[in-house]
Amino acid sequence: MLLAGIPERDCGVIIMLKGKRVTLRGVELTDVEEILKHFNDLEIRQFLGEAIPIAKPEEEEWVRSTWAQRREGRAHVFGIEFNETQQLIGTCGLHAISPIHRSTELGIAVWNKDYWGKGLGTEALRLLLDYAFNQLNLHRVWLRVIEDNERAIHIYLKVGFQHTGRLRQCVFKQGGYQDLLIMDILEDEYHKE
Ligand SMILES: CC(C)(COP(=O)(O)OP(=O)(O)OC[C@H]1O[C@@H](n2cnc3c(N)ncnc32)[C@H](O)[C@@H]1OP(=O)(O)O)[C@@H](O)C(=O)NCCC(=O)NCCS
Repeated sequence: MLLAGIPERDCGVIIMLKGKRVTLRGVELTDVEEILKHFNDLEIRQFLGEAIPIAKPEEEEWVRSTWAQRREGRAHVFGIEFNETQQLIGTCGLHAISPIHRSTELGIAVWNKDYWGKGLGTEALRLLLDYAFNQLNLHRVWLRVIEDNERAIHIYLKVGFQHTGRLRQCVFKQGGYQDLLIMDILEDEYHKE
């Protein structure tokens, strides 16, 4: 993985995580249009646990909030860019970073469905884990996933996450309740992979 400090127009210097087929980079206000083309798709949003539409000013506010959270060390949010075309195809990040417990909650969405099933989500996940354990020196990365999200669960298991908990009937979607699964990976498990 190549690390490069690149100047970001609006918010100082950010880290860029370069993989073979995708690059993780900061999100910018100029990305909002592309994000909104896909992010209000119900199929995507139902996997993220809510179906409330998002408007342009709200998305811009979210982008700005990612800069503030990064400056404060609370979260590192990235856009997932497809190297071949430099198109933004998703977003991912490490949230609720705790310097005391050295833990973080991981989130990912390849929200452009044309890019599903090409191994790009898995590559983005691996870049994020490498960043969490080898750059931020974190001890534990955890996540929440709705029980019917088989695609996501498959890639989480593939990169080394384990099932560690289940919140029963935690999410209401499409007229019924679903359990929310907790998965995590510890630093020694990551380094053994
Ligand atoms: C989950 C997500 C990030 C996966 O991204 P992706 O780029 O499609 O993932 P990849 O192509 O790297 O891998 C997909 C894997 O799922 C497998 N898969 C596809 N459908 C599946 C299913 N129904 N059950 C189990 N595995 C499935 C594929 O075979 C592939 O595994 P393989 O490479 O071992 O064959 C993407 O689908 C997404 O963003 N979904 C909507 C938002 C979301 O669910 N985010 C996660 C919230 S917890």
